[in-house]
Amino acid sequence: MQPTKLIWMNGKLTDWQQANVHVLTHALHYGSGAFEGIRVYKTPDGPAVFRLKEHIERLYYSSSVLSLNIPFKKEELCKGVVDLLRENGLEQGYIRPLAFFGYGVMGLNPRGGETNVIIACWPWGAYLPHDSINIKISKYIRIHPQSTVADAKLCGHYVNSIMAALEVRGTQYHEALFLDYKGEVAEGPGENFFMIKGNELITPPLGAILAGITRDTVMQIAQASGYKVTERPIKAEEIYTADEAFFTGTAAEVTPIGSINDKPLGAGGVGPISGKIKQAYLDVVYGKNPEYKHMLTYVS
Ligand SMILES: Cc1ncc(COP(=O)(O)O)c(C=O)c1O
Repeated sequence: MQPTKLIWMNGKLTDWQQANVHVLTHALHYGSGAFEGIRVYKTPDGPAVFRLKEHIERLYYSSSVLSLNIPFKKEELCKGVVDLLRENGLEQGYIRPLAFFGYGVMGLNPRGGETNVIIACWPWGAYLPHDSINIKISKYIRIHPQSTVADAKLCGHYVNSIMAALEVRGTQYHEALFLDYKGEVAEGPGENFFMIKGNELITPPLGAILAGITRDTVMQIAQASGYKVTERPIKAEEIYTADEAFFTGTAAEVTPIGSINDKPLGAGGVGPISGKIKQAYLDVVYGKNPEYKHMLTYVS
């Protein structure tokens, strides 16, 4: 990670090195925090944050699941992001807001502990830096929707994702794919999943997966481009006969999938529709499509 100068910490721009917490921070022990991943892009009209409002909304939703009351208004956090980017002079990269229970209480009930909010940002290129990726169905399943509130972006949930990421580390696979407890396709460790059959894009329904903001953007772009978009359960066997597939995510953007469990999809590599959707997505985030400019928050 390449540090920047400042971190927004509980409302104050703080030196990167001084933005520290106590080792008895509740979230460090139990994962009692909620976070976001947002990107800022260098557009022809200056740096712009992609779908800032929706990310901050989701941070509040995730925090509410933990009874973590963020002691700031949503507008203050949006302004915090913009101020931080401006002061750090970061034109393109990644933004990480995090709300968490801090120091003061131990034990599983976090109520009464201090609540902290930080926003950091740093330069970050492609998360999966390949034209297309080879993926493997994980031996782990996506967290069960009755074990937690699975669509909240909570720190503790990410141990599930870390296990899947470790599973493919050092193998020929670039990323894992989670099935759910029913054996249906869920999502990647940090990405939503789409498969393509003919002219139709199919993606698992909301409920047990993260309601991805990139997923939503891609659905809008695909529909506007004349593709049929369907949200429905996908059986694991079905994906091998897909023409194409791709992952979506703030970090992963649109990443075409060339093969699953060593079985190439279609002709393998980047499928023609996936390639078009990826380009259309990049045009939107880089401010090149006027129809979607409302999704951008300009920094200056
Ligand atoms: C588990 C999981 N699924 C999907 C996504 C994609 O969500 P988004 O497009 O909002 O970044 C992410 C990334 O935040 C994630 O962590």
